[in-house]
Amino acid sequence: MEKHTVSQLKALTSDTEVTLQGWIQDIRVMKNIIFLVFRDHTGIAQLTVKRDSWKGINLESVSRESAVSATGTFLAKGVSKIGPEILLKVLTVLNPSRSPLPLAVSDPVNSDIETRLNHRFLDLRKREVNVVFQAQSKLLWGIRKFLSDNGFVEVHTPKVVAAATEGGADLFRVQYFEKETYLNQSPQLYKEILISAGLNRVFEVGPAFRAEKHNTVRHLNEFTSVDIEMAFSDHNDAMRMLEGSVRSGISEVSSSMGKELAETGHNILIPEIPFPRITYEESVKYIEGHGEKINFGDDFSPEQLKILGNQFHDFYFITKWPAVLRPFYTMPDPANSEFTNSFDLQYQEKEITSGAQRVHDPQMLVERFHSKGLREEDFSFYLESFMYGMPPHAGWGLGLERLCMILLDLPNIREATLFPRDRNRISP
Ligand code: 4AD
Ligand code: MG
Repeated sequence: MEKHTVSQLKALTSDTEVTLQGWIQDIRVMKNIIFLVFRDHTGIAQLTVKRDSWKGINLESVSRESAVSATGTFLAKGVSKIGPEILLKVLTVLNPSRSPLPLAVSDPVNSDIETRLNHRFLDLRKREVNVVFQAQSKLLWGIRKFLSDNGFVEVHTPKVVAAATEGGADLFRVQYFEKETYLNQSPQLYKEILISAGLNRVFEVGPAFRAEKHNTVRHLNEFTSVDIEMAFSDHNDAMRMLEGSVRSGISEVSSSMGKELAETGHNILIPEIPFPRITYEESVKYIEGHGEKINFGDDFSPEQLKILGNQFHDFYFITKWPAVLRPFYTMPDPANSEFTNSFDLQYQEKEITSGAQRVHDPQMLVERFHSKGLREEDFSFYLESFMYGMPPHAGWGLGLERLCMILLDLPNIREATLFPRDRNRISP
């Protein structure tokens, strides 16, 4: 017997015999008839049983969310509102579900997020929750395709590390045998070393850890960072690669899942590139023009970024950030060393990516360590790779969950994270 998915049924002719495998979502028992609401990873079908001719198992004993195999005939003229209809012949319970359920899969998604995350496997059985992660997979696939087509090599670097990259305050400490080490905040140092290693263009998709204590709808303590680094390149080259990656990722989601996403209320718009660019100084002027006060070197608040973001349709770059706001590895602007060859990609008030041209001159790098109060001995393994012909280079790091969140207009980054790690949550 050939197995089918719910989504394949509509292409079949009536009375075709089919076998579906999935879950029983609900059972409605009437006087002469029983309806089972069947669900697989592609959709919902109705299994119809005429009680007087049914010779199979006692259907009333099948608990909701049991895994089943269902065989019957497809009724092309079925009028069920929930989905295609199958006249059921055989139902086999592959594995029963306990009842009561801690979380009903047919409940609306707006049940309390903590309960949903506590029983995430059941929450993820809901189509509208599940679809987010199918879209995230396509988004990353589109980004990977673009980077691969542009000569980037996918790499994997250590997550237990000896040095901080993005500032010392947000580090998780890890006891590594006799040594104190950290969980990496970003693959920054390693991707730069790989530029000196002659790989030319590298990218990595991997976890990044930030011990930030704040609990917001935009922050996780473990997130998925999509990072690139490219040799013989500057910040403008890196920005072009970023625009191309974002557009390719979104195009992939739109072309492979646009219809399904529309059915679950998500409208995917492929952004026009190039994205607008505005410098930090221009941004300050614009925001101050709307009655806010910003001191030089202040980061923008979400409220101020909302003001700025209102003038752009969706994505835009803020470039030339002050050196005081950027990490040690960021290349100063040769025209004015108070500023840097850096950028953030924004979507309205949300930061999606930070990137820059990097310092490649080891002498300048040492000066930058000192100006940030860092000890060069802590970075000797990194610094060494700059002493033997390190190419000029640039790159960026993009938060995958943030991009997914804005693409699907999700209210909380946890909605775009399978098993979020936040200030309070380490389980499941
Ligand atoms: O801006 P960040 O800290 O930059 C870096 O890590 C640099 N090494 C990147 C580079 O190549 N210059 O982080 C990059 C992106 C942010 O723009 C954001 O999208 C995401 O990573 N991110 C977070 N996402 C969720 N929760 C957090 N706590 C995040 N911190 C950063
Ligand atoms: Mg940043």
